[in-house]
Formats: sequence, C-alpha cells, structure tokens
Amino acid sequence: MYTLNHVFKTYPSTEALTDISFSVENGEIVGVVGKSGSGKSTLLRLLNLLEVPTSGEVVIENRDSKELSKNETRKQKQNIGMVFQQYNLLNNLTVKENVALPLKMVKQKKDAWVDELLTFVGMAHKSQSYPAQLSGGEKQRVALARALVRQPDVLLCDEATSSLDEQNTDEVVRLLQKTHQEFGITIFFVSHELETVKKLCQRVLVMEAGKLLGEVENQPVDIQMNDSSYLETVQRRLAR
Ligand SMILES: Nc1ncnc2c1ncn2[C@@H]1O[C@H](COP(=O)(O)OP(=O)(O)OP(=O)(O)O)[C@@H](O)[C@H]1O
Ligand SMILES: [Mg+2]
Repeated sequence: MYTLNHVFKTYPSTEALTDISFSVENGEIVGVVGKSGSGKSTLLRLLNLLEVPTSGEVVIENRDSKELSKNETRKQKQNIGMVFQQYNLLNNLTVKENVALPLKMVKQKKDAWVDELLTFVGMAHKSQSYPAQLSGGEKQRVALARALVRQPDVLLCDEATSSLDEQNTDEVVRLLQKTHQEFGITIFFVSHELETVKKLCQRVLVMEAGKLLGEVENQPVDIQMNDSSYLETVQRRLAR
C-alpha cells in the first residue's frame, strides 16, 4: 500500500525527515514512536498527501505521490481518515452533523450510515449533543466516526489517545481494534505512549531526530474492558 524510498523533508531551518524508507502492507496496524520533534507528524503529513517530500518517493498503491494530478490527489485524500489529539470537532455542529460533515463536503448524505457509525463508536445516544457537552473520550469516539464516514482504506492517528486517561485510552484502542477487524483498514498510530502502542500495533517504527532508527515487531493484546470498580483498579495499579 505505502512504500517510502529515501524520503527527506526539509523546512527552511530544519531537516524534519532524513532518508526514511519503509513499506506497509494493506491491513497492517503500524505504530510510529519517537520523542517530541522526531518527525512523526511530518511523516503523517506526507502519508496523507498534505505535503510532498523534498526528495525521495512516497508511493501509494504503486503511484508516486508527486506524480498524482490534482484530481487524483483529491481522490486519494478521500481515502485517508485522520484522528488528532485535539479531536478537531466543530463546536457549532452537533455530534451527528460533525460525523456527516466529510460527506456533506462531497455533496453526499447517508443518514443511516452516519447513525450506524455513531452506534459503532457507542455515541448514538449523544447524536444531538454538541462537542462542548462531551468528555474527551467521547469527543475522540465522535472524531473516529467522522474519520471513518467516507470508508477510507487508511486511518492515520496522530497522538489520538495522548489527551485521554487510561480507561478512555483503552476504550479508543479497543475501538481501533474493532475498526481494524470490521473494516480491514490500514492504521498508522503515532504516539509517544509506548504502553498504548504495545496494546494496538503489530509493527512499530522507531524515530529519532528525523531518522528511522529501526522497526520492532509486536504482539498486540486484545483489550478486555474490566468490570472492576475504579477503586479496585487504583488499588491494583498502586500495588504493582
Ligand atoms: N511547517 C514546519 N515548518 C518548519 N519546521 C517544521 C514544520 N513542521 C515541523 N517542523 C519541524 O520539524 C521537526 C519535526 O516536527 P514534527 O511535528 O514532525 O515532530 P513530532 O515527532 O510530531 O513531535 P511531537 O511529538 O511534539 O508532536 C521539528 O523540529 C519541527 O520544529
Ligand atoms: Mg506531532
């Protein structure tokens, strides 16, 4: 699906990516980890075609991203969903309107599908609420539904759980696992939280100062939401 060949991305004062090469197959869940400033978000902006490399190739489905026409780039972008740390929901739209927005932008309306997705992320009961009335975990579940509404082949998550507490992180990770199982989608999960990456990703790209240091295979775990009380959870964690 994606192959990067010797990709460099240079900004006026910074070399954000240096000689990055890797391939990702359809349907993989790939983690990208690295300290702040290591180039993770820059890498995602190349994968979602917001930017092109200064040199090297980003090949998507056998096509070099630099060779796509404007129209082809627009089509390919529709095939990519994004989830951000800060949710990026529109405050003046309801939950349901937020999820339907990417469809509206291409003059489509699929009411039943939007409802189905809201049920999928467990937010159907809040479809008429506004973002300000939701918790962080709820906002991120709505943002995930919005990212999936155009049925993308790829989902790019940039620190999607980094503002969430442990339980909400687990809920979003479990939803991403469910998304992967039901839609067979390719997921890039950028995060500095190794514990979360360990739960979700099959393979992890490790970045430092714009370079890809290496890759690590990982055995993700199926998240079981435990039914123990919050008090029990805290007792168990502090006793470790
Ligand atoms: N548009 C830009 N113009 C100039 N420099 C940039 C731009 N975008 C990123 N950079 C620089 O490129 C480097 C990598 O930034 P990037 O945002 O990709 O890091 P990151 O790994 O996502 O960090 P964080 O974990 O803090 O989100 C940084 O030094 C940053 O200052
Ligand atoms: Mg970043």
